[in-house]
Amino acid sequence: MAHQKLKLVITAGGTREYLDPVRFISNASSGQMGYALARAALRAGHTVTLITAPTALKPPQGANRVSVRTSDQMFHAVKEAFSDCDVLIMVAAVSDYKPAQTSPVKLKKQKSELTLHLVPTRDILAWAGRHKQSFQRLVGFALEDRDLFANAEEKLRKKRLDMIVANTPEAIGVGASVLHVKTPDGNWQTLKHAAKSRQAAALIAMIEQLV
Ligand code: CTP
Repeated sequence: MAHQKLKLVITAGGTREYLDPVRFISNASSGQMGYALARAALRAGHTVTLITAPTALKPPQGANRVSVRTSDQMFHAVKEAFSDCDVLIMVAAVSDYKPAQTSPVKLKKQKSELTLHLVPTRDILAWAGRHKQSFQRLVGFALEDRDLFANAEEKLRKKRLDMIVANTPEAIGVGASVLHVKTPDGNWQTLKHAAKSRQAAALIAMIEQLV
């Protein structure tokens, strides 16, 4: 049976938190999983807004693409798109901290040590969890190098998610991965090692069942 067409907001890539105009703190996220999900969703006939931090990837044809760099910009873009969407899939590796200050001019090197003062960023998914309406579904990702199931379940609960997708650091920057998926009432399901394009198609089919 053909499924209802959904409005999806998908975030992808690793945010950049700027120290000055040319230097930033970021992470190794390549954006592949988020882009693969956008492609799979478009192929399934859904509408996709792809809110993306910088990546080296080709934009999926047919997605409404919003380019951002920082976690603050990603938050504002998500906020703008959220009220109107059926599902928010937060695949982006959002930095948990940002510099307390960003210098408007390039920092000069000094002889002395340099200490960075970092402050927490806003948790976009937790914000969405607090603001979601009854028709909306939230999907989060968890990257865990230990106690994967326990840590991911805590994120599912604390951020009020409808689905959590957990993986390990081996998934970063490569084309294939193993995924573990859980909904609040279901058991853990494992999607065995496969290309991210294939994992993405399976996830979109599972997400359709949430709605
Ligand atoms: N996320 C977010 N906003 C942030 C940080 C993370 O929306 N500021 C989202 C990510 O897109 C992902 C999920 O939250 O869907 C990851 O949860 P998080 O608690 O950030 O995981 P970690 O950063 O790995 O946390 P920890 O270091 O505690 O394991």
